[in-house]
Amino acid sequence: MPLFPDHLIQEVAEKNDIYELVSQYVSLKRAGSSYVGLCPFHNEKTPSFSVSPHKGIFHCFGCGEGGNSIGFLMKIENISFYEAVTRLAERANIELPKPDTTDFDRGNEKKKERELVYAINKDAATKFYENLKTSKIAIEYFKNREIDGAWAKKFWLGFAKDSWDDMFVYLKDKGYTESDILKAGLITGNDNGKFYDRFRNRVIFPIFDERDNIIGFGGRVLNDDKPKYLNSSEGLVFSKGKNLFSLNNAKRTRADFVILVEGYMDVIALAMNGYTNTVATLGTALTPDQAKILKKYFKEVVLCYDSDSAGRTATNRAITIMRQTDLKASVMYLSGGKDPDEFIKKMGKDAFNSALEARKTDITYLIEYYREKYEINIDGQKVAYIDELIPYLLLITNPVELDVYVNKLANLTEISTQSLYSQLGIKKVNSPQKITQAKTIDKNKIQGGRSKVDITRESLLALLLSNRQLYEHYGKYLSDDLFGGGVLLDIFLYIKSVYEEGKNIDINLMMVSLKEDNTKQLARILSIDTHITDEIKAFKDYLKTLKEQVRREKIYETLSAGNVEQLNDMIKKNN
Ligand code: CTP
Ligand code: MN
Repeated sequence: MPLFPDHLIQEVAEKNDIYELVSQYVSLKRAGSSYVGLCPFHNEKTPSFSVSPHKGIFHCFGCGEGGNSIGFLMKIENISFYEAVTRLAERANIELPKPDTTDFDRGNEKKKERELVYAINKDAATKFYENLKTSKIAIEYFKNREIDGAWAKKFWLGFAKDSWDDMFVYLKDKGYTESDILKAGLITGNDNGKFYDRFRNRVIFPIFDERDNIIGFGGRVLNDDKPKYLNSSEGLVFSKGKNLFSLNNAKRTRADFVILVEGYMDVIALAMNGYTNTVATLGTALTPDQAKILKKYFKEVVLCYDSDSAGRTATNRAITIMRQTDLKASVMYLSGGKDPDEFIKKMGKDAFNSALEARKTDITYLIEYYREKYEINIDGQKVAYIDELIPYLLLITNPVELDVYVNKLANLTEISTQSLYSQLGIKKVNSPQKITQAKTIDKNKIQGGRSKVDITRESLLALLLSNRQLYEHYGKYLSDDLFGGGVLLDIFLYIKSVYEEGKNIDINLMMVSLKEDNTKQLARILSIDTHITDEIKAFKDYLKTLKEQVRREKIYETLSAGNVEQLNDMIKKNN
């Protein structure tokens, strides 16, 4: 959103010395070519906040904050980008043109549109709840499922009347327009251009986002009609793959772990038994986006899916996604009920708690799960059993952890750990991360949330930024797909385009050219210590490691897509 032309923003950043600016807020001490101090953005006793006047950036190794002078002022004064640029321009006597605000307004409009949908949904939820209070059949339905008035209220449960326009009329009377109500997904149009209520004769489960906005609804039939559940249509605010039922409640528990179940009713039944740290997906398989959200609030996800075969398959997929997100996963198994709702009602809270306590780590679970499917005293089946597990073992990035499970599997199958490792395609490579980057990794450890492959990418980019010749010699080996799809690819493409033009990198210009959110990541890359004696060797090592990591990533992707044939091909090709 260019409020001002790039070259002016660049000038503003350049003419405001980052050291001078930061010194006004933080007491800095010289350390080599940069300065260090106590980070103003998080609480710390030993300095991990560093400022590089030469690069024009600041970066905190503790909390991950970083950027140029504009970013610093925004953050420390809690002001907008526009405000920061204006203040810094004044400070450096640079005259700014009247800003171009078209994009800015557009952003605001989207926000207003979303707010409107939240408001409509909230009114609708209130109405659904009122309906429930006067509907005998709906009250009866919830009673049968052991949900009383207090719990119905806690979850804002409701009822959609058996009517074509009860909600439509209600919302129109409230002053909302047809197109607004349509945007909220509460009505559907038919071929004649007439609108009718989407939810009819269903009990209603409102779905909240992390910030307690009602983003949509799930509606269940009261009998065995199909479809059993109907959700709000995907739209401006409702996205099945990016939200989780009851996350707003679960995050408030500040528990270390969250229980992940399949259904709305499971969440409510567990919450009623004290497990408010329970969430459910919204009728689709767990997505990486959802795993990332869970990682923000919890250290561990306890998978507690239905005990049927669909539930088992979903468990295995969820394990893959959790591993890729670097989020600890465990599995609890409920025998004695088809789902957690039925289990806890039939067997009681204590039985549930025992099952929870007895949960297995993801890989232990898989080793036991597949063990039941094969007769490993028969040679061919033993091989097939191991083959089932290989793709999952490849998801383990911690070598110690991998050793634990390889040993476990070796004992179980009486196959040597060496054979298992070679089947994994691991020739125990001496990853350069272990040698050249040990210090950086250690420093960055607390930031968390970044995968190993991204750390390698960042190291490679840091070297590229510091040494143009590396690009000139080895650029041809750097394909775009090595850098994933996000910010790091953007940064790589930027470096590439500048070097291809035969120019040098100007950090401030680069900061301006990248999207605002990306500057933090750029600052982190720039603060990676690249004073390595043998840059060429380090570069080649990183490149080799990266290629291997990307290959593995592709294997994981194929695995989560469930394409077993393609997966076997990939593994064979590399052995
Ligand atoms: N689901 C859906 N559409 C369907 C069926 C299911 O969106 N036609 C979603 C719902 O979010 C539901 C979840 O998948 O909560 C799990 O489905 P299921 O196990 O069938 O439902 P339960 O929640 O267990 O429902 P109930 O106990 O009421 O039968
Ligand atoms: Mn159920």
